[in-house]
Amino acid sequence: MKKILRAAAWAVGGVVVLVIVAGGTLYFVSQRRLDHRWTVAAHSVSIPTDSLALVRGKHMAVAISKCGDCHGADFGGAQFIDAPPVARLYATNLTRGNGGIGAAYTDLDWERAIRHAVRPNGDGLLFMPSLEYEWLSDEDLAAMIAYLKSVPPVDRESVPNSIGPIGRALYLKGDLVLVPAEQVNHDTHPAPVPMAVSVEYGRYLANVGGCTGCHGPGLSGGKIPGTPPDWKPASNLTPAGIGHYAEEDFFRALREGIRPGNVPIDTLMPVRATKQMTDDEIRALWMYLKTVPSKPFGGR
Ligand code: HEC
Ligand code: HEC
Repeated sequence: MKKILRAAAWAVGGVVVLVIVAGGTLYFVSQRRLDHRWTVAAHSVSIPTDSLALVRGKHMAVAISKCGDCHGADFGGAQFIDAPPVARLYATNLTRGNGGIGAAYTDLDWERAIRHAVRPNGDGLLFMPSLEYEWLSDEDLAAMIAYLKSVPPVDRESVPNSIGPIGRALYLKGDLVLVPAEQVNHDTHPAPVPMAVSVEYGRYLANVGGCTGCHGPGLSGGKIPGTPPDWKPASNLTPAGIGHYAEEDFFRALREGIRPGNVPIDTLMPVRATKQMTDDEIRALWMYLKTVPSKPFGGR
């Protein structure tokens, strides 16, 4: 009997040691990657000051690239993921107010943060969707920066970020793009895409508008990486998913958040932004979606 107890104690002890070693390794390996410092060649864009560019910049930031969805509608910063086992992530105050980065940021810093997900000191920004924003044309990016520099200052301190064990495991497994700087192409800059009702412009909007961020690179939908288990998956936007849509249905989905048959779309879908897209932008996106190869739900 004593022998069995002793064996059991050893087994339990072994498991505890294993868990501690595994946890430590997970923390150590992920932290080494998180601590990597990035050097990105400066790419200057000339920031416009005319009022038309500010209007364009606001449209890009609010209706297309949805910066306020994470950074707060006033761009003063917001907690946008608060699931400690996965992560607690706070999207920084972008304004010139106390606690914001606006006063200290140079134009080069803005470009580096938005397109490359890298802070002025070289740290990789966590979860900032630069895999989508790396596609922004110089002109749109410059207009957006001009607008962000003009927004009213907000005094709000940012809350420190933390990455929990599940977040670290998902990151190491490759299921969570925690450090977008690891995947962004830092060497080339996108060629501008002429603004038009065209497949090319639609593809541009799908990228810089974050459709690919939530609906997946191939737009086939599925679980949005890093979101809690009870969050709805994003829909399949390839013909296999919305092939039954007519153009008016697509307009209604993006403007009112309602799908054919009067079925409401979950509010995870950022209709508050897409409803502000112009008719031509929605048409271009629609043209593009019709050319996307059909894939099963969540398929690559
Ligand atoms: C999906 C959420 C999300 C969206 C959308 C988003 N960001 Fe971020 N952004 C973040 C997070 C989170 C951080 C902080 C990362 C960190 O602290 O490591 C961040 C950091 C930044 C920073 C760096 C601030 C600093 O601390 O130095 C800038 C600049 C920035 N974002 C600008 C933008 C702009 C401009 C847009 C829209 C084009 C945008 N972000 C859209 C999540 C987001
Ligand atoms: C923040 C994540 C997010 C972004 C960004 C996003 N979507 Fe969605 N979208 C969703 C989710 C989640 C659903 C599914 C909601 C549901 O099941 O009710 C959805 C549903 C939809 C639907 C309804 C399809 C159906 O099931 O009938 C359409 C259409 C759509 N999205 C288009 C777009 C387009 C176009 C863009 C880019 C301009 C976009 N979405 C950007 C999360 C997102």
